[in-house]
Amino acid sequence: MKQIILITLCAIIAVSAFVFGFTYTQVNQERLNLSADLQYRTRFLADSLKESVEPSYSRISTTSLQRIVDKFADRERVAGIAMFNNRGVSLATSKGTPKRVTDNPDFVFVALDKNEPTGLFEVIDGAPRYLFVSPLYDNERIAGAIVVVQNTSYIDTAVSDIWKRNIVRLLVQILVFSAAIVFLVRFTIYKIMKRFADSVKSARMSRTSHMSIGGGPFFLRPLASEITKMNMSLAQARFAASEEARMRLEKLDTPWTAERLKEFIKGNLKDRQIFVVSNREPYIHHLERNVVSYSVPASGMVTALEPIMEACGGMWLAHGSGDGDKKTADADGKLRVPPDEPQYTLKRLFLTPKEIKGYYVGFSNEALWPLCLLAHTRPLFRKEDWVEYHRVNGKFADALLSEIREVSQPIILVQDFHLALLPQLVKERRPDAQIGLFWHIPWPSPEHFSICPYRKEIIQGMLGADIIGFHTQQYCNNFLDTVGKEIEARIDLEQFSVTRDEHHTFIKPFPVSIAFAAEAGLEGEVSPDRVLLEKFGVHTSFVGLGVDRLDYTKGLLEKFKGIEFFFAKYPSYKGAFTFLQIAPLSREEVAKYREYGEQVTKEVERINESFGTNDWKPIVLHKKHYSHEVLNSLYRLASVCMVTSLHDGMNLVAKEFPAARADEQGVLILSNFAGASKDLKGALMVNPYSAEETCEAISEALNMSKTEQRRRMKQMRSAVREYNIYRWSAEFIKAIISLG
Ligand code: UDP
Ligand code: G6P
Repeated sequence: MKQIILITLCAIIAVSAFVFGFTYTQVNQERLNLSADLQYRTRFLADSLKESVEPSYSRISTTSLQRIVDKFADRERVAGIAMFNNRGVSLATSKGTPKRVTDNPDFVFVALDKNEPTGLFEVIDGAPRYLFVSPLYDNERIAGAIVVVQNTSYIDTAVSDIWKRNIVRLLVQILVFSAAIVFLVRFTIYKIMKRFADSVKSARMSRTSHMSIGGGPFFLRPLASEITKMNMSLAQARFAASEEARMRLEKLDTPWTAERLKEFIKGNLKDRQIFVVSNREPYIHHLERNVVSYSVPASGMVTALEPIMEACGGMWLAHGSGDGDKKTADADGKLRVPPDEPQYTLKRLFLTPKEIKGYYVGFSNEALWPLCLLAHTRPLFRKEDWVEYHRVNGKFADALLSEIREVSQPIILVQDFHLALLPQLVKERRPDAQIGLFWHIPWPSPEHFSICPYRKEIIQGMLGADIIGFHTQQYCNNFLDTVGKEIEARIDLEQFSVTRDEHHTFIKPFPVSIAFAAEAGLEGEVSPDRVLLEKFGVHTSFVGLGVDRLDYTKGLLEKFKGIEFFFAKYPSYKGAFTFLQIAPLSREEVAKYREYGEQVTKEVERINESFGTNDWKPIVLHKKHYSHEVLNSLYRLASVCMVTSLHDGMNLVAKEFPAARADEQGVLILSNFAGASKDLKGALMVNPYSAEETCEAISEALNMSKTEQRRRMKQMRSAVREYNIYRWSAEFIKAIISLG
């Protein structure tokens, strides 16, 4: 409180000094203006009088002079007029002229001596006056003088009015300023500072309830963000230290942490460098009216790989797809990321619109994606797309080869279906490079794959890798069967390897995961504020949540059908349950995605129209991208999270949901056709094509006892913690380097 008073006093002193200084200048100026105006008016009056009397001054009678003087003296602020002869004897005097003027006309003599008009300010009988003397001439000889006496007290009145007005204004300002300062300091800054202090204190005391302290005024945001990061680092460091200690004591091999992965890499790779290559980049820079910002794209591949690069360092080569990407990278397309806390190098490869259209939009997303993900969308194989796909894979290979020119035995982790030809292109020129290819989407049956006109080239390209990883054993089996069907090669079903031209490629499942270990220490985190849900337009106590790219493989239409069945069968949930669907726009250049986006909106509108009321919508759809921070808060507020992909390599949203639920509450509804269904046995499994099954699963989830929710959640959390992304990468890298 003392400080608040001090700040307020300082502000009052500063404002007062300013107002006094300002008023002082204003008053001086006003006094000068009024005086000048008075002098001008007096001279004007004297000149007029002079004009009337001067031509006949010596001859004019004193009675006439008296009449003229009386006439001119009858004006506002004129305190008197007197006429003198050239010896200083008064000839005529208006009524009220101070006696000092006629009795002691010393100033008249001065003017007559100087032979020029003279003015002076004087206090006469306690009243301020202005005396003006102008000599009169007769044939160029001084014949006498006119004296005009003006009342100047109005100048003092005007000046004191200004002082009064400004002091009243100052008092009002002081009042308003003080109130504003007290309010601002007491209710805003003090509150925020207290929140900061509480957050740092909880982190120090190893409580974790206020890890993130976002919000607040813009000028405190950088500080809030730094404190949040510091809290997180402290929690992670504490967790890593305690885990290390625990493992030393218990000699346990789990769980894996960023620290442990770092140690593993240091111990096993020595100075060998890691290079990740993918189409999608981990940080996209955007340019809006010359302001640069960045986002982390919605991509399971990025979610998985980013924490590994943060822990291990190295280089990530990817397509620079953002309109601010060139501006934020150097001439080589390189920059250090994460932008806030750089740990590794991102090298951006820039593609032409023609290359993007053929390689990314066409062959990757209209051919390979629907070919591998069985969602009943017909793949489109266009020769020109294939040519671009081939060319861009070559471009990625050239960029990578130039980066590894000086690096011996580099470890290269190629990601996903966009770069199927890359392993062979690199291996041919750098046989010493150890290459792992991870395929983040499913691999279909050989029969299904056989419709691809370029299947042999794709398989040969992939087999340039030393290891090919898939999420599940089933995808590995499908791949080996496809290789057996399509090309000449020796297949070892015991080793799960393919040998071609003396080169061995091992095929292994590595179920990808998320960076859960870091958060594992954060149990006891309090639930985020429901205000967030209100902001999303959700006001009910039961909340369903979906987080999917707006992609036809994610089964959004099927999910909504299940929700429609649910409200029809269980009408008591109307107004009590809302389904919030987060669906960032994805691959909008592809016609099928645009059509799907429209269908999704229409379906939501249809269902909302048939069940909704004025103040409740059954489905709230946000076709927007949100950060992991926001999604984590939503996960923690949801009663049920629904993943109903028609087919999905893994689906990391399904793993993020239990990872966020330190309270061990909430239910996951999960499609049988997502790779994650193999790992998350605690979920309620559904066939997303059956709206009845989805409807019953929602009902079961909303009626599930807390104990049962806890049992299932514990199971899922321990599965994700045990096989987290650090373990995934350690196993993948171990498998690569063990090949020699
Ligand atoms: N995601 C995101 N913002 C969004 C929606 C999704 O960051 O608005 C993230 C989500 O948290 C997850 C990833 O995008 O980490 C999606 O991965 P997933 O394996 O579920 O599906 P994919 O989109 O890769 O097919
Ligand atoms: C899938 C793919 C990723 C891809 C992601 C988002 O998860 O396996 O490689 O990054 O979808 O798709 P996008 O085309 O936006 O990169």
